[in-house]
Amino acid sequence: MTDTVSSLLAEIADVGTDLRRGGYTRPVYSGAELDLRWWFCAHAQKRGLDVETDRNGIIWAWHGGVGDDAIVTGSHLDSVPGGGAYDGPLGIASALVAFDHLQARGVSGRRAIAVFPEEEGSRFGVACLGSRLLTGAINPRQACALTDNDGVTFAEATRRTGLNPGHLGTDLETLARIATFVELHVEQGRALADMDRPVAVASSILGHGRWRIAISGEGNHAGTTLMADRCDPMVAAARLVTEVQRLTRGISDARGTVGRLVPVPGGTNVIAARVDLWLDVRHPDDVTTRHLVDEIGRAARKLAAQEGCTAEMAEESFTPTVDFDPRLRDRIAGVLDAAPLLGTGAGHDAGVLKDHVPTAMIFVRNPTGVSHAPQEEVEEADAETGAAALAGTLEMLLHR
Ligand code: GLV
Ligand code: MN
Ligand code: MN
Repeated sequence: MTDTVSSLLAEIADVGTDLRRGGYTRPVYSGAELDLRWWFCAHAQKRGLDVETDRNGIIWAWHGGVGDDAIVTGSHLDSVPGGGAYDGPLGIASALVAFDHLQARGVSGRRAIAVFPEEEGSRFGVACLGSRLLTGAINPRQACALTDNDGVTFAEATRRTGLNPGHLGTDLETLARIATFVELHVEQGRALADMDRPVAVASSILGHGRWRIAISGEGNHAGTTLMADRCDPMVAAARLVTEVQRLTRGISDARGTVGRLVPVPGGTNVIAARVDLWLDVRHPDDVTTRHLVDEIGRAARKLAAQEGCTAEMAEESFTPTVDFDPRLRDRIAGVLDAAPLLGTGAGHDAGVLKDHVPTAMIFVRNPTGVSHAPQEEVEEADAETGAAALAGTLEMLLHR
């Protein structure tokens, strides 16, 4: 097999390109993401791996037969809107190449590559939906009811891919097959570039969550409604966005973002009847995160009331801070030339799996430090170094 990480990624460079923003828009179970899933299955089959899709839509490609005590690596193929080429696919392409290295070295032992659906939560709102379903971190009925922007439910999208939504949910049998899970991922900051190192081992993931805030007012005519007579939720939403920034800046290490704001119905000459906005808050200390979100909720109600509107806030997901197993983390750093340890502010399936199986992550240098944007970057040599690091890690774990 002569594939390299770069040659594999070049094969999918035209899939799901975003003509509006640049980069890639590959929502879960869209044509683009399904094309990528087929692409992965074809490569897995070409390598003689046994490929199956489990009841939660996770693809598994097995070396050494389906069974227990497997060393598993993997990541995701879905993207945020207008995302980069590497967030997710780098981990999948590196896994294929790492398996090639192990094969060439004659390394035996059961291993698998897993492809998780809806890691970004960019279509149905809940990140790491596949791993949350697998581990029982989300109720399948709640997952089925999630809808995308077109009103398609997750149940319906699941059905359209040929899976039975009635079978979604905790899968202890599949989970029990994983002896250790290692996810390779592009670094989503500049730490490795600044350290002049190609790879790092993850130490932690910031606790993070998503909240939907709906501000309701009175829809009316932009020309005939006097300024004094308005209940305009857009004004309250605009003030709330700046208040999120102010409150978050007051807490060291906190991150607060409003990345999506939707006026309903949304017309230039229409005072909105409602504005939905989505809040993403992260902090190493989960109590602080909760406290900040409560403060933002209070601010939303107050700012809404000032405009004669009301505000309601609902939690869509929350993942506590993850500290990766220090023993496993240090063993991996040891086989990777004393790779540095790095915390991350980004969520990952490895973080969701961590409470159920031994889990670790490897990060690969991103010279721009940018992610969730087209400027995300990995140099060819680093991509191959990353795959070699993953192979070395898997080999160490297979030998136990
Ligand atoms: C996933 O990339 C996230 O951290 O939102
Ligand atoms: Mn990712
Ligand atoms: Mn991402």
